[in-house]
Amino acid sequence: MNTVLPDFDPIPSSRQRIQVQVTTLKQAVDEADALAVPVAAGNEPPEELGVDLAGLKSAGFAGDRGRTLVLPRADGPVRVAVGIGSGDVDVALVRDLAAEFARAVPWHRKLAIEVADFGVPVADFAQAVTEGVLLARWRYFVGRDADRPTLESLHIVASDQDTAEAGAGAERGRIVAAACSLGRDLANCPATTLSAARMADVAVEVGTAAGLEVEIFGKDELIALGCGGLLGVNRGSVEPPRMIRLRYVPDEPTGRIALVGKGVMYDSGGISLKPSDESHAQMKNDMTGAAAVLSSMTALRDLGCRTAVTGYLMCTDNMPSGSAMKLGDVLTIHNGTTVEVLNTDAEGRLVMADALAMATEEPVDAIVDIATLTGACLRTFGTEIAGVMGNDPRVVEQLRQAGDVVDEPVWELPLIRSYRSQLDSAIADLTNMGGMNAGSITAALFLEEFVDGRPWAHVDIAGTAQLPAPRTWRNKGATGFGTKLLIEFALRFARPGTS
Ligand code: BES
Ligand code: MN
Ligand code: ZN
Repeated sequence: MNTVLPDFDPIPSSRQRIQVQVTTLKQAVDEADALAVPVAAGNEPPEELGVDLAGLKSAGFAGDRGRTLVLPRADGPVRVAVGIGSGDVDVALVRDLAAEFARAVPWHRKLAIEVADFGVPVADFAQAVTEGVLLARWRYFVGRDADRPTLESLHIVASDQDTAEAGAGAERGRIVAAACSLGRDLANCPATTLSAARMADVAVEVGTAAGLEVEIFGKDELIALGCGGLLGVNRGSVEPPRMIRLRYVPDEPTGRIALVGKGVMYDSGGISLKPSDESHAQMKNDMTGAAAVLSSMTALRDLGCRTAVTGYLMCTDNMPSGSAMKLGDVLTIHNGTTVEVLNTDAEGRLVMADALAMATEEPVDAIVDIATLTGACLRTFGTEIAGVMGNDPRVVEQLRQAGDVVDEPVWELPLIRSYRSQLDSAIADLTNMGGMNAGSITAALFLEEFVDGRPWAHVDIAGTAQLPAPRTWRNKGATGFGTKLLIEFALRFARPGTS
């Protein structure tokens, strides 16, 4: 283990406390240093902007959707004209526009936005604004931060009658944004710093603080449990593996779900070594699934979630070495299923298999797994949409709806059962490699073998786990995609058959 190098806190950005408060316009003008003013395309802007339509036009600003113009003033906060375009404004657009505002004033620390009458409920508006601003200003940074443009506070300006609703929405937004920031921090942290053991330390720290029960399983416990998938992948690494089990149990739960996250802290490919290109350098984020499960679960108590949630984080590196698994090796998964390893780079499904099998041993209404599982999913959808497959359309549909609400979209691929024969092995129950084509589907068919018929869906986030450039509230680099999706899924979960 790395005990020689000086090291840093793996989750620095998510520790910042940003104040979100509901205030009057006067207070915002007195205290904030930047104030957003929405401008509809072609309309005369509100008076507090201090410039009229002609003035805006002369500066080349026509109120186009998502465009911003910063207007400096001698007195009070700078005004930021935020174009809302023409046509309907929904929650996703409010979140995006708030993010554009926050990005337009990157050095300002105290931002203010007034609740606008777009037909969006006040609480949803305040939540979306808070998420948009806080997430747009998130940044992973482990250097000296003296000159860093940190956000200190967000004022949401609301009328007296809207104060309570706006406050409740803002608080939900703050909780969600904090969870997302944790997910992003974890996914961006370099792999040598965020080993499986360190991930377990973080889970104990943040999980306990969030009221979760946290259990850590080290190598000896995993051997006792027969978790041959996780242990097999771990064999090439000098870092020991960890399985982390988290439990959130509300009073009188309305349903029970298990979440399983792929926690490959670094995926070199193992003996089936990846080529040394940029995609290889991204493989520190191959634990984004585990990060999404942990970070989403930190928000459940504070959001009043009524679903009981058990999370499994399957954490290890995938490294080549003299002790690494060899092609042709056979691993025995927790439920006794044997797997012939034909490519050590198809390691995600191996570590997930143990947890899926364990999840079936307790009463559960649905199992959802989330993993940066296949390059094929990145090829299929690019970086904007995650893939989803499952054995129960009701679970898949609930994930799809949750993704729509939080703007982390997922799109279903068919689980074509006739492709299962591609996983046939001559010497074991199955192999870990399908054929050349439909790699996301054969990977899901592999996982399905371990859920013992329970309602189950698999989310492949290989594409959405990284973005090449920032966009609205989305960040460049490792995105931590899935945190908001899983929070919303757990909040709205209805047992299949009850809705
Ligand atoms: N972690 C990768 C998948 C991945 C690729 C995520 C690109 C993000 C970007 C996974 O472990 C992997 O290597 N999958 C292989 C499977 C194959 C060997 C069957 C792949 O997709 O090439
Ligand atoms: Mn791999
Ligand atoms: Zn991987």
